[in-house]
Amino acid sequence: MQVFLKEGIRVNIEPANENYVESYMEFIKDLASDDDSYVIVNYSGLLPDIDGVRERSKLWNKGNISMHFALLKDRVIGYCGQKIGPTYGNDLQPHISEIWYAVSRDFRGSGLIYPLIFESLKNTDVKYVQAYVDTRNVKSSKLMENIGFKNMGKIGENILDKRNNILRDDYYFRGKREEALKILKEKIDKRGLIINF
Ligand SMILES: CC(C)(COP(=O)(O)OP(=O)(O)OC[C@H]1O[C@@H](n2cnc3c(N)ncnc32)[C@H](O)[C@@H]1OP(=O)(O)O)[C@@H](O)C(=O)NCCC(=O)NCCS
Repeated sequence: MQVFLKEGIRVNIEPANENYVESYMEFIKDLASDDDSYVIVNYSGLLPDIDGVRERSKLWNKGNISMHFALLKDRVIGYCGQKIGPTYGNDLQPHISEIWYAVSRDFRGSGLIYPLIFESLKNTDVKYVQAYVDTRNVKSSKLMENIGFKNMGKIGENILDKRNNILRDDYYFRGKREEALKILKEKIDKRGLIINF
């Protein structure tokens, strides 16, 4: 999918593959030192090992894991991952997936996150989609509400923030994929983004 942001900047949203592992690592490195970010590196304090990521990248978009990148030429500026059967495996939970996502600082507020999540959700046929959001992450919570996900409640002390040795609280969000897709399309139009499939 091609996305034209308001300034006419063209971004491609594509299934991730191992050719982008280095650029993805650069992005993860930026997120690690970003005080507004709440992704795994912000809790673990450790950058993943590049060989491990290269190995994991072989599973992207195979089996129950999907991964999409937003690319500015060859630079990864956003991702949306999705795992089907997040808790009990895809045999017992073929109808539920979990998503995780991030956009590069320079592209926050541009609306890019909407086509990114849209493209990810379009590629699975689950009924429900869930996400865990740190209670301090106001933007991400707002984003989930914006796409029709319901805040199902707070899960206290759900993740260990190793950097600060504190257990952090998450909100558990869940919504219907079909409904989210409809709302995402409306959000894309409202934000004035042009998309070509
Ligand atoms: C979470 C993330 C993907 C959201 O993307 P974004 O481009 O920043 O999102 P937007 O600017 O569209 O903001 C989302 C909503 O939050 C609102 N918002 C932004 N800042 C806000 C604030 N300080 N208080 C309340 N609402 C706020 C926006 O107005 C928008 O709602 P609207 O469309 O109704 O206006 C992005 O901030 C990011 O990558 N963060 C770092 C990684 C991360 O934390 N990922 C999520 C892990 S769960």
